[in-house]
Amino acid sequence: MADREQWISRRGFILATIGSAVGIGNIWRFSYVAGENGGAAFLLIYIFCVALIGLPLVIAELAMGRRGQGDAVAAFTIGGRGWPWVGWMCVGGAAIILSYYTVIAGWALKYFAGAATGSLWTAAGEGFGGYFRKFIANLGEPVAWQAVILGATMFVVAGGVARGIELFNRWVMPLLALLLVGLAVYALTLPNSMGGVRFLFAPDWAAFARPQVWAAAMGQAFFSLGVGMAIFVTYGSYMPREFSLPVSALAVVVGDTLFAIVAGLAIFPGVFAFGIDPASGPELAFITLPQVFLRMPGGIIAGIVFFFLLSAAALTSMVSLLEVPVSMAMHRLGMRRWPATAMFGVIIFIIGVPSAMSFGALSHIRFNGGGILDTIDAAVSNILLPLGGILIALFAGWRLGRAEVLKEADMEDGALGRVWLWLVRIVAPAAVLLILLRKLLGA
Ligand code: PHE
Repeated sequence: MADREQWISRRGFILATIGSAVGIGNIWRFSYVAGENGGAAFLLIYIFCVALIGLPLVIAELAMGRRGQGDAVAAFTIGGRGWPWVGWMCVGGAAIILSYYTVIAGWALKYFAGAATGSLWTAAGEGFGGYFRKFIANLGEPVAWQAVILGATMFVVAGGVARGIELFNRWVMPLLALLLVGLAVYALTLPNSMGGVRFLFAPDWAAFARPQVWAAAMGQAFFSLGVGMAIFVTYGSYMPREFSLPVSALAVVVGDTLFAIVAGLAIFPGVFAFGIDPASGPELAFITLPQVFLRMPGGIIAGIVFFFLLSAAALTSMVSLLEVPVSMAMHRLGMRRWPATAMFGVIIFIIGVPSAMSFGALSHIRFNGGGILDTIDAAVSNILLPLGGILIALFAGWRLGRAEVLKEADMEDGALGRVWLWLVRIVAPAAVLLILLRKLLGA
């Protein structure tokens, strides 16, 4: 299709793709999962998973998207049947992820507003745990913040690939990188900050023998890169032929990992400086950190910056998640961009309401002890994304012709292409399957 939208610049494309990968996962999720799983050992296993599974999958997704020149379903369409349903699963999966992701993004935005206006800090008197629990248990407030941040996402997506998504990321991503580095430098100047650095970089070797740490690291690699749900397929479909695919994929993977590590350097020194347990779970960013900020000199500013970062990073990921169904509606249902955006925005908002209410009015609904939002989050990172990853690897590795996929991945000649091909054919699916099965069987 001649009039298909495209990225204008390589830089803009890479920033948008890093923006998709970098999100709440790098800051909120990475810090608490690393905290619960032993810090440095987790980080090493995480990097191993990213290099051996994540990077090959990002390359596969981008190549499939550029080959299909359409939506997620088109990328899985190749004479004969049997595969397009995977594309539909990705479209549905992206919508489900966005529905609950928006809720957490809404909390971040509420905290940013609270930090900037001061109400977050005055709440210190009642204890931050109370502030957080009161807010998430409220009937209307989480839903209102969910609506606000989803509305902002729809605004960017409605602007189009180049003039909405690319332009937005070109401004926001460099700013986020700058603020995060600033926050880390500041955290490292705190007295006793070295405890946090050691936690992140000095491994406890015993943790390598624990299968849960491997499962957690793989789940985090999938979630943080955002691989397995055809996001890179969709962004790759707007990629001009001249952009080098492996270089772009490498930039995204390295960028995402650096963001997580620097976020760790911004968070753990403060946690350790005040003798707080790094394994405080999902509450780390919303309950523990504000307390840390309040006790740091100049911490209020740091807190405002931190919650701005969290909200903006969430927004750039939400944009990519929304683009998956929107691109489907445009390509497959012949809809124009803005009606497609409006339609899916509303649908996703409605699906997300039970998640937003899952700590208040709906907190009695529990599955295996977890609430609605926690259950969806666990199912997505532990099952849906790895499953999508296996199917993408198998499709790119075995179903697409060897010559075609290597050409589409810009690795026609040389050993690199061969290494990549065997990583997606065997190593990635086998490793993911192993960890997935262990998890499902409760090992
Ligand atoms: N990668 C994003 C993050 O780290 C979240 C995400 C998950 C985006 C899955 C797309 C798909 O926050």
